[in-house]
Amino acid sequence: MKRVALISLNGGVGRTTIAAALARVTAERVRSVAIDFDPQNTLGLHLGVPVGEPRGLSDPKFGGPDLVELLRALQPDVPFVPFGRATRAQVSELTRTVQNDPRWLSARLEGLLPSGSELLVIDTPAGRNPWSDQVADLADAVLVVLGADALSYANLADTENLLEELSATRAGSQRAVGFLINRLDPRRPLSRDVRAAFGQALGDRLLSVALYEDESVREAVAERQTAVRYAPHSQFVAGLHEVSAWLIEALA
Ligand SMILES: Nc1ncnc2c1ncn2[C@@H]1O[C@H](COP(=O)(O)OP(=O)(O)OP(=O)(O)O)[C@@H](O)[C@H]1O
Ligand SMILES: [Mg+2]
Repeated sequence: MKRVALISLNGGVGRTTIAAALARVTAERVRSVAIDFDPQNTLGLHLGVPVGEPRGLSDPKFGGPDLVELLRALQPDVPFVPFGRATRAQVSELTRTVQNDPRWLSARLEGLLPSGSELLVIDTPAGRNPWSDQVADLADAVLVVLGADALSYANLADTENLLEELSATRAGSQRAVGFLINRLDPRRPLSRDVRAAFGQALGDRLLSVALYEDESVREAVAERQTAVRYAPHSQFVAGLHEVSAWLIEALA
């Protein structure tokens, strides 16, 4: 089983949206499961799950049969493991647990994942935190999501530092890393300039495909579907097919 983690320094750049849609697209080729490893518990919203679904991996009593039951009841666009609704106190406690046990997620997923799972697409909170640290340790590939804006560009050096810090936790083993621009608006000169500047700075670490700013992505959430189902012919979804192909090749 392979694992890809989506990370970014800045919040709100589209990690969760992309994690959901990428898992959905990649599921056409390999058995994929999306994992919500972010206490915000929002991944399910992109997969057709009602707001406030309480069950998930943050609850120690939630096990494999519960997940099978949940997936059967909710029929998400792609199999996924929700984080679950947790109180502030529960999140604080779990944060400490995760910090002290670098293998927490691996152990937690054992016996929880649908049988035959081949690829895990793991969503994380923005920035450096115990959740992203832990995921970086397990990931065979890391997809760094960048906004097509001046803020993401200004933070590129810090993003590189974040990646280096995360990589340091996985001494000795190789891992694929790709940077992906999201919300590109090719009509705007600034958006085009930022893409060119990222290209110069990152070279072939920047995926040649960028995902466009697309109204249908927001509409899809409102319709409780991935964009893959809601707007299969959008540029966003066409781009995701290319990201999926990059990922499968990177993991081969
Ligand atoms: N390509 C896109 N076109 C239009 N809207 C987008 C696109 N990608 C993401 N969005 C919108 O941007 C918002 C933030 O997306 P998302 O929650 O996926 O970001 P995130 O990086 O996971 O945020 P957070 O840091 O809060 O976890 C959402 O409203 C989503 O619908
Ligand atoms: Mg998110």
